[in-house]
Amino acid sequence: MMVFKSIVFFALCILGAVHSAVLPIEKCNLEDSACMVASFQKAVPVFMEGLPDLGIQVLDVLEMDPIQFDLSGLQFKLTDGRLKGLKGAIIDSVKWNPKKKKIAIEFHANSTVKGHYTAGGRILILPITGDGQITMKLKHIAVKITVDYETEQDGEGKNHIVPKKLHFDFEVKDGAHFTLTNLFNGNKELSDAMHLFLNDNWKQISAEFGRPIMASAANSIYKNIITFFKKMPIDDISLSS
Ligand SMILES: *[C@@H]1O[C@H](CO)[C@@H](O)[C@H](O)[C@H]1NC(C)=O
Repeated sequence: MMVFKSIVFFALCILGAVHSAVLPIEKCNLEDSACMVASFQKAVPVFMEGLPDLGIQVLDVLEMDPIQFDLSGLQFKLTDGRLKGLKGAIIDSVKWNPKKKKIAIEFHANSTVKGHYTAGGRILILPITGDGQITMKLKHIAVKITVDYETEQDGEGKNHIVPKKLHFDFEVKDGAHFTLTNLFNGNKELSDAMHLFLNDNWKQISAEFGRPIMASAANSIYKNIITFFKKMPIDDISLSS
């Protein structure tokens, strides 16, 4: 039986002088879901702030890669996207299945995405055109992430988790609010009507068009999880048999 061993572990600290990140990890059995939830919860704010010594990026505020999509008649582009709020994520469930080599994590958070957008085409039934700043406030966004992994030995014979596949799903539960500047070349009436429409239909809008944006965020988290496991042998974070 694999056992999550004690630990507060210290990031590699070259020359001993640099301030090193400390990620708290609680002692858990991998399949002990309740213990894992508490352990992940403690790690979340530290992880999301970034662990430069481990190569973990800052995830809150997350600077997003440019996103572009053409979906159901809407052409949309988001650049300089910044997502805020992951630090405050609440872990709802962690299911680690060492036999199936799957880790399933559910969490929720309030988030804000800001950036520069361009939009054309139509959104649901309404024509839209715009080029300006967008702010999206998402209340209680519930996220499920599942990672399939393999284990591999490094050069020193230590085992690592190597994530192979990410699945993710999300739902905005308690409301989304959208603000876009410079819609319809600054036409106020059309812009007001569009804001009413977007904010009345927040549920459908976020379900239909939120995915590429959330996928990008999920991918960033995933990349950093890969880095983390690559740097840390399983025994160092954790488990022994
Ligand atoms: C989200 O915001 C609401 C208030 O608007 C608050 O009650 C709730 O605790 C927040 N949730 C999280 C995960 O921060």
